[in-house]
Amino acid sequence: MVKKITVQTLKKYKQQNEKFSALTAYDCYTAKYIDQAGVDIILVGDSLAMVALGYENTNSVSIEEMGIFTKAVARGVSHAMVVADMPFLSYHVNIDSAVQNCGMMIKNGANAVKIEGGSDYIISVIRRLVQVGIPVMGHLGFTPQFLNTLGGYKIQGKSKEAADEILTQAKQLEEAGVFSIVLEMVPEECGKYITENLSIPTISCGAGRFCDAQVLVSDDVFGKFPEFKPKFARKYGDMQSLIFECAKQYNDDVKSGRFPAGDEIFSM
Ligand code: KIV
Repeated sequence: MVKKITVQTLKKYKQQNEKFSALTAYDCYTAKYIDQAGVDIILVGDSLAMVALGYENTNSVSIEEMGIFTKAVARGVSHAMVVADMPFLSYHVNIDSAVQNCGMMIKNGANAVKIEGGSDYIISVIRRLVQVGIPVMGHLGFTPQFLNTLGGYKIQGKSKEAADEILTQAKQLEEAGVFSIVLEMVPEECGKYITENLSIPTISCGAGRFCDAQVLVSDDVFGKFPEFKPKFARKYGDMQSLIFECAKQYNDDVKSGRFPAGDEIFSM
């Protein structure tokens, strides 16, 4: 029997000062292999808008599309916690529709949801979700759904005042009941400062080495997304070349008559 990672497991990791890992996945078998590798959290990130669907940014993906990918990932995972990223406008209209949309992701197989921001409204959404039994992961620092108001992919929390502002929001999120917080694109000092002042785990996405956990977009890790590689991501493979090479060899083999071979056909 595989032991499932839960919010309690993550709490224990923080208490014991034990680091943990998170990666995104968008399909069943990638999720299965990431799960088998021992990664603790599999995030069905709205980054799929860009890396799987080819949209320009994350704001274009719909709740229906996120639902399909969440179901696929959940079918492949038995150990990791599956977190569904709530897309732009799926939790902003009012608390009731936020509960409905987040609840749908739990019905789709997610174990928790992630929502961005730290406004008073977001705090009230978190309180309600936690009340109905939906675990919530927060997301502060650079929040991609605010791309248009932030004016681009900009590092947040660069001054003491800005770091304090993020810490205030993080504490409010913690008090509202989130079980962890992603800190995206903040200086390492800011990531450390926030991590040391919270009792829930922080998950770094470009927030340095002192957070309790790390998360990356799997397509960056696998070398599959060519458009750009964030400074904080590490490429462990070259799936772009691998897919290109396999497709090229197949194409050559078909056109030269080398595929199919004798053991790849049915006979009467
Ligand atoms: O959408 C995403 O992939 C994210 C990151 C934190 C990795 O939100």
